[in-house]
Amino acid sequence: MSKVIRWGVLGTGGIARAVARDFRFVQDAALLAVASRELTRAQAFARRYDIARAYGSYDALLQDDDIDVVYIATPHMRHGDDALACIYAGKAVLCEKPFTINAREAQAVIQAARDRGVFCMEAMWMRFIPLIREVKAQVEQGEIGEVTHLAAAFGYPLPFDPRSRNFNPALGGGALLDRGIYPLSLSFYLLGQPASMASEANMGSTGIDMTSHYRLHYDSGAVAVLSASCAVYQPSEATIRGTAGQIHIHAPFLRPHRITVRQGISAGGYRHRSLHWLAGTRGYQLVKRYLDKPLSTLGGQGDVFQRFPGLGYQFELEAVTRSMQAGKLEHDIMPLDETLAIMQTMDEIRQQWGLVYPSERF
Ligand SMILES: NC(=O)c1ccc[n+]([C@@H]2O[C@H](COP(=O)([O-])OP(=O)(O)OC[C@H]3O[C@@H](n4cnc5c(N)ncnc54)[C@H](OP(=O)(O)O)[C@@H]3O)[C@@H](O)[C@H]2O)c1
Repeated sequence: MSKVIRWGVLGTGGIARAVARDFRFVQDAALLAVASRELTRAQAFARRYDIARAYGSYDALLQDDDIDVVYIATPHMRHGDDALACIYAGKAVLCEKPFTINAREAQAVIQAARDRGVFCMEAMWMRFIPLIREVKAQVEQGEIGEVTHLAAAFGYPLPFDPRSRNFNPALGGGALLDRGIYPLSLSFYLLGQPASMASEANMGSTGIDMTSHYRLHYDSGAVAVLSASCAVYQPSEATIRGTAGQIHIHAPFLRPHRITVRQGISAGGYRHRSLHWLAGTRGYQLVKRYLDKPLSTLGGQGDVFQRFPGLGYQFELEAVTRSMQAGKLEHDIMPLDETLAIMQTMDEIRQQWGLVYPSERF
């Protein structure tokens, strides 16, 4: 029988609630404890999500010897310190994106995790969604030829509140760290480290980027054109174009249920893929079918649909749970060196606009 991995969560906000609900889809993962800065909030959260233990401070949860891994669901600005506290307490870490506020903090956390031999990963859940992994496999197998262009955007307006974590620079506000990280992480996942990049931003009254755009250039000649916003709606789709076809990831590209693959168009035909998702309350299974069809039958498009239960956080929770059962310290879908490289890129982007967070001024 496999060991059940016992989880704790720090924070009781929006994402903690969403992720807590998806634990029911993960085998051998038990959400055992929740911690809040305020005991009554932890108790209410524990009652709502059927969690056995509620703590009135983050430290108290870290003293609990029964917790194997901590999911950090606090605002960006706390991630570095919260992750270090977990690691020093001997707990494995799944830390919400962005992993930290900047590369310097990320490096400190990564070093601490490696020194102490503790599992650590950025909670970039998008990479674990099955259709995103399917896109990665297709790109790697050369299904659309050599990638020449990637376009992705993620944005929607939020009610302006200068104290909220989205707009408050003291909490790491701005579109880049909260939303831009998704198109950036997708580009790193599919194309690797860019050779150079350029960016621009519309800054808001609190000094953070309300909307920002990033253009990454790769040695291969490929270009990624990306953007993010807290102020306007953006399509939340992604398209990867190559020399022999293209893949469109339908909205929301962070957790797609549908992609459209066009390939071999010049050859007059393409392979139509269909993926079926069989889901139960305790697990799921992916069934793939490949059909070769002439272009005329399907109007030139190959739609791939995939449904899954819950919100899609179960895939990253499962990846961490299996890694811990196997005694691994990192996951190869979201390795720490790549987390660091993405943080370095975001530092460089902010540098281009002169955006420095208050905690970085010393
Ligand atoms: N993966 C995703 O899809 C996704 C979606 C949304 C957000 N996120 C990430 O998750 C993190 C949290 O976002 P969220 O939307 O859940 O934020 P939120 O609703 O504001 O919740 C954050 C929680 O952190 C705790 N906290 C600790 N120090 C705090 C402080 N100084 N100010 C405010 N809250 C503080 C609070 O819980 P207690 O008061 O109970 O301690 C609060 O409820 C962010 O880093 C964000 O990037 C990820």
